[in-house]
Amino acid sequence: MTPNKSGPINGRVVLSETELINKSADFNSFMQKRRSVRSFSDKNISPEIIKNCIRAAGSAPSGANKQPWQFVIIGDSALKRRIRKKAEEEERNFYSERAPQKWLDDLKPLATNADKPFLEEAPYLLAVFEKKYEMTGGIKNISYYSKESTGIATGILIAAIHNAGLSCLTYTPSRMNFLNEILNRPAHERPFLILAVGYPSPEYIYPDIKRKGLDDIALFIL
Ligand SMILES: Cc1cc2nc3c(=O)[nH]c(=O)nc-3n(C[C@H](O)[C@H](O)[C@H](O)COP(=O)(O)O)c2cc1C
Repeated sequence: MTPNKSGPINGRVVLSETELINKSADFNSFMQKRRSVRSFSDKNISPEIIKNCIRAAGSAPSGANKQPWQFVIIGDSALKRRIRKKAEEEERNFYSERAPQKWLDDLKPLATNADKPFLEEAPYLLAVFEKKYEMTGGIKNISYYSKESTGIATGILIAAIHNAGLSCLTYTPSRMNFLNEILNRPAHERPFLILAVGYPSPEYIYPDIKRKGLDDIALFIL
């Protein structure tokens, strides 16, 4: 099979080098348009879209194929309100006491504070848990590289949400153990982060952040 000929191989289409370059460039342009959103419109979103995004996340590679992630999808208003209340308690403590000054300085360009209205505004909160192990038939089934694996799955989830035409915020209250209690998850599932998902509020002003260039993030030894 010559690399420049298009044709099917193992059920997948082999593209020409030009097509590969174009596809990779298109995907990069598309991903560069992804931005975190901290204010959402209340426009409804079909759960089928969220299910498809979670299915895509479930395609992630994982250490020894343990798939050590658990997603909890929250659309219920009362539950979102409880999560917001607990998260804001943690945040008030973080912003006024626990956060080192350097961290607060680094957060300034993002204009964040202890108020997290997006936790109620967003039609969906996706709580991601990292499973240190799984109980199968009373037997402890240990995971490997659960943090890395869950991080990769979350990255795919964020890309899938963006691809669907929605936006999200990766949200990490500095202490998240309250999620186990509110969402009734066992202690060996570690709260990883929350993704607030929806359409951006038309009034949301995106912080003026810069992304590092290729030379800043990659070293090529060819
Ligand atoms: C692991 C992680 C944790 C984050 N936690 C928060 C958070 O708690 N609150 C928040 O407003 N943004 C949070 N963010 C979003 C970042 O601030 C945002 O990704 C960064 O400023 C770059 O902006 P962009 O996503 O629009 O490119 C988090 C992002 C990541 C990857």
